[in-house]
Amino acid sequence: MARVLTVTANPLLDHQSPVRWRAGTVTRSPPFVRLAGGKGINVARVLARHGHQCLAFGLGGGWEAEELARLIAADGVTPCLVRTAARLRLGFQLADGALIEDGFAVSAEEGERLVAAVRAALPGSALLIISGSLPNPGLSALYPALLAAAEDAGVPCWLDSHGVGAAAALGAACRPALAKPNREEYAAAAALWERVPELHITDGARPAWARTAEGCWRVVPPPITELNPIGSGDCWLAGYAHGRLSGWDSATALRYAAAAGAANAARAEVAAIAPAEIAPLLPAVRLEPTDEGPPCRATPC
Ligand SMILES: Nc1ncnc2c1ncn2[C@@H]1O[C@H](COP(=O)(O)OP(=O)(O)OP(=O)(O)O)[C@@H](O)[C@H]1O
Ligand SMILES: [Mg+2]
Repeated sequence: MARVLTVTANPLLDHQSPVRWRAGTVTRSPPFVRLAGGKGINVARVLARHGHQCLAFGLGGGWEAEELARLIAADGVTPCLVRTAARLRLGFQLADGALIEDGFAVSAEEGERLVAAVRAALPGSALLIISGSLPNPGLSALYPALLAAAEDAGVPCWLDSHGVGAAAALGAACRPALAKPNREEYAAAAALWERVPELHITDGARPAWARTAEGCWRVVPPPITELNPIGSGDCWLAGYAHGRLSGWDSATALRYAAAAGAANAARAEVAAIAPAEIAPLLPAVRLEPTDEGPPCRATPC
């Protein structure tokens, strides 16, 4: 099994409650359940469940970061958090919505320490995956620096981000080897995403479109009863990484990625799927070679 590094620049100490928000009064709840939040952490958690050695890099300060590290480790992932002066951001998930802080203050120097920590871990690693947003827009040099470090080390780097972070990464001198926007993220900056050699554009329950070195596919997800689709893109990426790291061709890995995303959407917990939940969905994934280009916002694939 392979060693995989994930980077979550803007992780979250999340809190979950089963109650609904009652506006204008005090909403009482049973004790909150604390969860490690963040897209790269989701990817690492699913890959660890497939037997890979995962190091989850990220930024964060305060006791909140200590607690995040404890939760990451409890999922069988090695936490590698670079400490910041500002405390980590917090989130609260209720039955009918969520309240999350957008980001937190991270200095350029703290960002450089994250790059140095990742650079030191790259030798001997099979893959670097950068996921999610930046904690503040001033950190836009972070993803280009990580891409350059990966290129120096000869380690492929995949990207699943949006907004300022994605724009900086996609405009950088060193490009990611693979990117996975969802259709909305793709439509917001189609020309930039097109710079990436391997592109997967997912669209929830609707067919995904993928261009790999072996061809282009329309990937029809298996039918499931959707419970919570959050993190399905992270599970897609973890499933695809598992396939490629296991030596599968891209079509076989795409099938597994679609089944992993669907298995996640069929569960309430985010990125808590195990291989045994993915396998039964594989036969229902439809993979069709296509000559068509990537979909635009107006035309679902
Ligand atoms: N309701 C669903 N039914 C079947 N498959 C689904 C469903 N939702 C998601 N999937 C699977 O998961 C994949 C990724 O989902 P989606 O496009 O929602 O990712 P995303 O928007 O990047 O999610 P996130 O960023 O929250 O991880 C889809 O291409 C599909 O294979
Ligand atoms: Mg996504």
